[in-house]
Amino acid sequence: MQFRSRITGTGSYAPEHVLTNFDLEKKVETTDEWITERTGIKERRIVKGETTSDLCLEASKRSLEAAGIRPGEIELIIVATMTGDMPMPSTASILQKKLCAKNSGAFDINAACSGFLYGLSVADNFIRSGSMKKILLVGAEVMSRFLDWQDRSTCVLFGDGAGAVVLERTRGQRGILSTHLYSDGNMWDYICLPGGGAQHPPTSQSVKGKMHVIKMKGNETFRVAVRTLEKLVVDTLKKNKIKPSELAMLIPHQANLRIIKATAERLHLPMSRVAVNVDRYGNTSSASIPIALDEAVREGRIKKDDYILLEAFGAGLTWASALVRW
Ligand code: ACO
Repeated sequence: MQFRSRITGTGSYAPEHVLTNFDLEKKVETTDEWITERTGIKERRIVKGETTSDLCLEASKRSLEAAGIRPGEIELIIVATMTGDMPMPSTASILQKKLCAKNSGAFDINAACSGFLYGLSVADNFIRSGSMKKILLVGAEVMSRFLDWQDRSTCVLFGDGAGAVVLERTRGQRGILSTHLYSDGNMWDYICLPGGGAQHPPTSQSVKGKMHVIKMKGNETFRVAVRTLEKLVVDTLKKNKIKPSELAMLIPHQANLRIIKATAERLHLPMSRVAVNVDRYGNTSSASIPIALDEAVREGRIKKDDYILLEAFGAGLTWASALVRW
């Protein structure tokens, strides 16, 4: 029988500092009512001095402990992030040093909010091919450093955090059953951070022009996200010959409660079988799925042999899904 990968440990971490909608009312022209109604977000966590690799470290330690694995056993570290410590080296390499994971390769993946599932697909394929046995995958973002705190249309949406999983080789029926990756670069400018790269290197002009913060066409993105995710979840189940009624849990990317509800409705899933924490963390981009997964696991909401569907949508535009048998 072929190899498969299985998640054997999960962990997550969010900075202590809580920024509520009421705090934001004092910074920009917004209200708790608007944010709650349009997004479902009540509060988010924001770093005070910590950086992305610090969040990665805490989440990783917890996932390794849950898996019963020592850092030295890890063969590859993948960090999904678009808000790494610095453009070079990778945040995965900095995490490797902090973890003392001496025997691993390390690299970052940037697929914005879909990054964790892109990373899951890459890790799964390394393990399926037989070339690796133990991989640490982290989704982590410090979004707060890349926001325009005067732009109410973006600054209320995002938060900081990290989630990690350990993937190990298995031969059984349980594990990652399938992963599905998509992108449509025609809509790359729907969500972007235009400055700081080769096209617009940092200059005093680029800073003045606010090119180093996230820009989003929120409403256009919303409409594409709902349509795309509804099709994505149906197709993913069909490809695996699984009925929605057989699904124990949906773990969606946490961008907006209205998007999450629309996706769940398409599958006729009650919200009791959907992981939701956007109210407490906001959109933590590539960290949102592993944080939600870790919380569901630790709350005992996921049992052995359960079918779990993971899905995400984000900048690129990118979208992705995975079906897991726990
Ligand atoms: N407080 C009060 N009013 C606001 C705020 C705010 N924080 N932000 C915007 N508004 C106003 C707008 O100015 C607009 O006013 P107008 O009608 O006078 O022009 C009005 O509210 C409606 O704005 P919309 O953008 O149409 O509001 P919408 O219902 O679409 O909600 C939101 C905006 C929450 C951003 C939603 O569109 C959304 O969730 N989009 C998808 C986000 C997403 O999934 N992104 C992908 C992942 S992110 C990543 O990859 C990095």
